[in-house]
Amino acid sequence: MTRYASTAGGKLPLPELAEMKHRGEKIVMVTAYDAPSGRLADAAGVDVVLVGDSAAMTVLGHTSTVPATVDEMVVLTRAVTRGAVRPLVIADMPFGSFQVSDESALENAIRFVKEAGADGVKLEGAGPTLSRVRALVGAGIPVMGHVGLTPQSATMLGGFKAQGRTAGKAQRLYDDALALEQAGCFSVVLEAVPAAVAARVTEALSVPTIGIGAGVGCDGQVLVWHDLLGLYDGAAARFVKRYADLGAEVRRALEAYAADVRAGTFPEQQHTYSIPDDELALFEAELDQTVRTRQR
Ligand code: KIV
Repeated sequence: MTRYASTAGGKLPLPELAEMKHRGEKIVMVTAYDAPSGRLADAAGVDVVLVGDSAAMTVLGHTSTVPATVDEMVVLTRAVTRGAVRPLVIADMPFGSFQVSDESALENAIRFVKEAGADGVKLEGAGPTLSRVRALVGAGIPVMGHVGLTPQSATMLGGFKAQGRTAGKAQRLYDDALALEQAGCFSVVLEAVPAAVAARVTEALSVPTIGIGAGVGCDGQVLVWHDLLGLYDGAAARFVKRYADLGAEVRRALEAYAADVRAGTFPEQQHTYSIPDDELALFEAELDQTVRTRQR
């Protein structure tokens, strides 16, 4: 069943996300890091595909998101935009790509749009990030904000733990989300935030909030591809719901393949090419002749 908010062909128009909020329709976002995943997310009717810097952990094997580079994220984003046609594809700007200055943030964001075909970018944090958001939006690049647990600054936040759990911290988070909207963000991700706080932020913003560990009151939800599908071995956060166990299925298939190869039962006749009998006879005769000549 097609469940896009827009009936127009092609790309989901960005302003449609705000319309969905106002109609009370939930926005579905998922991460993806390659073309087949982008294609599958598109086929499933997902609204927004985030090429998250979670790729550093899920596909590049790092233990945090910090090592992801712009070059790596551009390659992954380019692959996703080849697969995901209708969903909006948002590229996550990795650590170091927007912290230094508005100018370098803009240069890097332009790479995601021009080289990778992204429809927008996501930046973590508020404070100095607000000026980056204004610079990018001023240049015509749609920006998604991200507050609460911002993994790029997990060390400063005391680890991967819920944020905004005291009145003062909840108020700061609320103010940051509002400031991101004022700076021009078209949407704000709320990560690992108490549901009651996320609901109040969602009421206050006119742009949609996308929750991950932020309760059902957000305008949409996002999950990481590998968490959702059971492809990631690391400990899952409390907010993860696993909808499949593809890791176990992949392992089962690989073990069956290995057993077939070792037993000589793969490949079978149907996986094998033949040569016409007369050509084979000719080949063998020529081969015999060559061997005889060498032996003389
Ligand atoms: O990198 C990522 O996947 C993210 C989402 C968890 C929001 O930032």
